[in-house]
Amino acid sequence: MRLTIDQARLTKELDALGSVSEAQPPVVTRVVFTEADVRGREFVKELCRETGLTIREDPVGNTFARWQGSDGDLALVGTGSHIDAIPNAGRFDGTVGVLGGLEAIRALQRAGYRPRRSIELVIFTSEEPTRFGIGCLGSRLLSGLLDPSASERLQDRDGISLNDARASAGFTGSLSAVALPSGYYSAFAELHIEQGPMLERLEAPLGVVTAIAAPASLKIQIDGEGGHAGAVLMPGRCDAFLAAADIALAVEAAALSTGSIDTVATVGVCEVFPGAVNSIPSRVRIEVDVRDIDQTRRDAVLKQIAEACEKTASQRKVRVHSELVNSDPPAQCAPAVVDAFVQACETHGVRFERMISRAYHDSLFMSRIAPTAMLFVPSRGGVSHRPDEYSSPEAIAQGVLVLAEALASLSS
Ligand code: GLV
Ligand code: MN
Ligand code: MN
Repeated sequence: MRLTIDQARLTKELDALGSVSEAQPPVVTRVVFTEADVRGREFVKELCRETGLTIREDPVGNTFARWQGSDGDLALVGTGSHIDAIPNAGRFDGTVGVLGGLEAIRALQRAGYRPRRSIELVIFTSEEPTRFGIGCLGSRLLSGLLDPSASERLQDRDGISLNDARASAGFTGSLSAVALPSGYYSAFAELHIEQGPMLERLEAPLGVVTAIAAPASLKIQIDGEGGHAGAVLMPGRCDAFLAAADIALAVEAAALSTGSIDTVATVGVCEVFPGAVNSIPSRVRIEVDVRDIDQTRRDAVLKQIAEACEKTASQRKVRVHSELVNSDPPAQCAPAVVDAFVQACETHGVRFERMISRAYHDSLFMSRIAPTAMLFVPSRGGVSHRPDEYSSPEAIAQGVLVLAEALASLSS
């Protein structure tokens, strides 16, 4: 089989999808179920139709584009990623796995390959937690790990329910229909950018992921006492923002206290109410992201943050309410899929490093229902979740080539 990757076409498609944004390109903001997300989905679906794939969408908007195999009774091989993007993001996070997965299928078609198992390209809904506060919404539901009725109660910051938001994008029906039957996929293989500096530092063209770190997140609301910024004197204030600042510093201290470079914690959201320069903050909401490759250590950090919340509440005379949004275990990748990537690298003479994914991905949840692994393409400067995120067309094409080879071996 002679596989060729149409690097120029894929680059053009990544650029075109990158320009589908709520912000001025090159900034990408494509939050789930917004008009930009719907336009992005249409763009990808049209390309899938041109490739002869059959499209199915589930009630939460997970999209499956199938290349029918010669034996329709066999479990399928899945590939894909997400196209939603956080505010002020770049062009490559998720899209490389979607458009690269599609180009891998086209490369196999051009080479005259005919799969025995069907190959399905998946576009997962809301890998990013931006709108509903929880990451990997689509793959959590697919894997049966998120209770459908709990997810029906999710709301965005404007009080729009998940049900109304998905309906506005054309997705209706019960969320309990989203979970996939066990054994649906015999393998799942996700191509993604690394989003970190390791591959570049090691001068490795590709990374084969053997495990995915364990993410957790918290929503914390602090209620203090508002008042006039001039008239209320400093003694006796119950400033909700200063309490939030203490908690944020405690989050940093908790992450550093493990002494491990693998523990990370971030306060990425801080909403101050009423948000006026001459008004003492009466209410603050922060969102906290904690990760580690070691679940026990990650959970110890969560405990320290909970203790800091209690201490701050009593010291600053505020009320602190903390809600654990998710605390997921890490995932081990499946040796069979890792081996398929390793073999494919060897077949094409591409050097690779085995590595851990510190970012989370839909593969974290697909690994619960299917043998799963990931392939990473280097990110320039290790930069991601920023408009200057970049992976070269050559590096992406090499990733697609190896993905195509692996999909062939997994589907034959
Ligand atoms: C995914 O976008 C992550 O935050 O790891
Ligand atoms: Mn991301
Ligand atoms: Mn991603």
